[in-house]
Amino acid sequence: MKNTWRFGDLEFKYVREVLDSGFGSSTSGSMNNRFETAFAEKIGAKYAVTFNSGTSTLHAALEAVGVGYGDEVITAPLTVISNLDVILAQNAVPVFADVDGNTFNIDPADVARKITPRTRAIMPISLYGQSCDLDPLMELGRKHGIPVINDAAEAFGTLYKGRPIAEIADITSYSTENSKHITTGDGGIVVTNNEEYASKMRKFGSLGYAALKAQDGRIRSNKDIFQNPSYKRHDAFGYNYRMPEVAAALGLAQTERMDWFLDLRIAITGMYLAAARECDYLIPQKVPKGDRNTYWTVPFRYERSDVSWQDFRMKYTEFGGDGVYAAWALLYHETVMSSGAWKKRCPPLYDGMDFPTEGLCPVAEGLQPKLMQFVNNYGSIEEAEPKVDALLKTIRHFA
Ligand SMILES: Cc1ncc(COP(=O)(O)O)c(C=O)c1O
Repeated sequence: MKNTWRFGDLEFKYVREVLDSGFGSSTSGSMNNRFETAFAEKIGAKYAVTFNSGTSTLHAALEAVGVGYGDEVITAPLTVISNLDVILAQNAVPVFADVDGNTFNIDPADVARKITPRTRAIMPISLYGQSCDLDPLMELGRKHGIPVINDAAEAFGTLYKGRPIAEIADITSYSTENSKHITTGDGGIVVTNNEEYASKMRKFGSLGYAALKAQDGRIRSNKDIFQNPSYKRHDAFGYNYRMPEVAAALGLAQTERMDWFLDLRIAITGMYLAAARECDYLIPQKVPKGDRNTYWTVPFRYERSDVSWQDFRMKYTEFGGDGVYAAWALLYHETVMSSGAWKKRCPPLYDGMDFPTEGLCPVAEGLQPKLMQFVNNYGSIEEAEPKVDALLKTIRHFA
């Protein structure tokens, strides 16, 4: 079946422009720049920098705020492995703060308890499209001089107390991987209002080229200067995390179509939420007043003990539903952590450090096995209807 709703004429038009140009690179073409400019404006921030993933954006964000050897980074354990990997990549120390059992997001009170003189960044996640509780997190950040990096990989267009989240944190990071609201196949884009952070992130993601600027990804602004044997090209350390121009063309088109994608996911989610109200054991993610959850997926806390999570899932699938998704294992339960493999990243620092597998974040530990996510990434209401119907049938079956 063709998924023509995901990529339409606009995507083909912009990809064609890149190919017609003779296939520019991200350091010579203009598509990345056009995507960044459009995205920054749409999302409500001054600077945007494209990357090849929403993992490399987080890595660059940590670098930009100065996270390095032995620094502590507070994050939630209920997230994708990326948040852990980028902390380890900086030879920093992950510190896990518990989550709220209703919003599923990091609990600012626990963050406050975990701040030490070594804390160098707070990296909350705006999980499933719901903003983390930014006011108290920003207050903590300001009070202790610690930057806040909001991992909004799943939270395009999300509002916190009526404000676009990108206006609030020091840095806000998005993923454009395949399952996200807007996609470039794989990719990421990170935004900030801080020029220094923007330029540091861009350099980190593009081999530390000296010519790079907060709003300019070109590495040769002047050919006569660049093509000179004595010219020194790199003034910072960096990786090559750049987004290809073809992907940026998709990103530009998807940014222009973002509202359509968001509205559709929210509408489909509303159908699931209405169906779930027929029972009292599918507890939806809490959306505090004034917030807008854009629902990367439809998450519930499954609170029924006489029908197992797996049995509910199987019955839903039998009735024609798409597989219900489970949450990731908590970061400190992942094998890379429990086996000690993570310590190989920096033995002098990590040997002797251990994370208990129980009791570190009790709310997250209780919540994670109960989370159930329904698919809302369909191209139309009509396509979603039989899936929502399958949920109703499952609820009625187990009534
Ligand atoms: C919360 C969260 N953070 C980070 C990422 C990493 O993004 P990517 O897969 O583009 O590296 C993802 C997506 O997979 C995510 O859902």
